[in-house]
Amino acid sequence: MKPIPLILDCDPGHDDALAIILAAHNPALRLIGITTVSGNGGIKKVTLNARRVATLANLNLPIAEGSGKSILGAVEEATDIHGESALDGAELPEAKIELSELHAVDLIAKLLKESTEKVTIVATGPLTNVALFLKMYPQLKENVREIVFMGGSATRGNRTPYAEFNIWMDPEAADVVLRSGLPLTMCGLDVTHQALVTPEIFARLEKMGTQVSRTIIGLLKFFAKTYDEVFEIPDPPLHDPVAVALLIDRSVVRTKKVNVQVELIGSLTRGATVVDLHNRLGEQANCEVALELDFELFWKMMLEAIEKSAATK
Ligand code: RIB
Ligand code: CA
Repeated sequence: MKPIPLILDCDPGHDDALAIILAAHNPALRLIGITTVSGNGGIKKVTLNARRVATLANLNLPIAEGSGKSILGAVEEATDIHGESALDGAELPEAKIELSELHAVDLIAKLLKESTEKVTIVATGPLTNVALFLKMYPQLKENVREIVFMGGSATRGNRTPYAEFNIWMDPEAADVVLRSGLPLTMCGLDVTHQALVTPEIFARLEKMGTQVSRTIIGLLKFFAKTYDEVFEIPDPPLHDPVAVALLIDRSVVRTKKVNVQVELIGSLTRGATVVDLHNRLGEQANCEVALELDFELFWKMMLEAIEKSAATK
């Protein structure tokens, strides 16, 4: 089976960092570019983090800086979870990968034009870049195989009682993606809150004993501390790699195809994804929603990628 070409649009962020490693170090995938969007941190922070993580993972691929604010101009950093640098907890190598001169949206377009086959877009931050790409390059939509995004929730939120952070940061962008007509898969909090970094996972990371695994342990211990402080969740959920893992083996999640819309005007619920699990609204199903995770298979993939990234020179 030929590796699936994919572009990862992200806001590193601890879980985004692991998504980069998984996307880059599984033989079923071919990571052809990384684009950044402000979210967990401001655009300069998350872009530097992406370059440093790519250096840590021994990658050589284009990285482009994207939107520093939402379509409506909102900016917020999740320093309470990810720290001042947006990736606190470990010493990362100096960035050896140069930044592309292109804007993220233009790099996505360039990679799609150059690819001899359709490309999958995985988005693990606010959907601003993806929405802008769809609006600025409508003629390239047919080059997109599917969009898999980490965001939303069929139940409660994490940035507000009903809105998950990535969607809440740019609901208008999420609306553009949800109405795009492209094949969509949503990995919301329902499934990502099953991807917990448990003490047993930490023990398996400790056994690796490599520079990469030690760095990741430092990052995840910071992530665990802030998650416990803010949400009283002792084992932090590793959200973003779930969106990558399902491309490697779709059986890692159980999904249901339903209608998903985003609330744009609710005074208390703006940014909430309205996931119509039982088709109560009678609207067209537009999105596969991941609801259950195969924990063991997920961590098998994730830990193998971490081991592989250390071995790759
Ligand atoms: O709500 C969790 C999501 O928001 C994750 O992608 C995390 O990295 C942040 O971007
Ligand atoms: Ca993210």
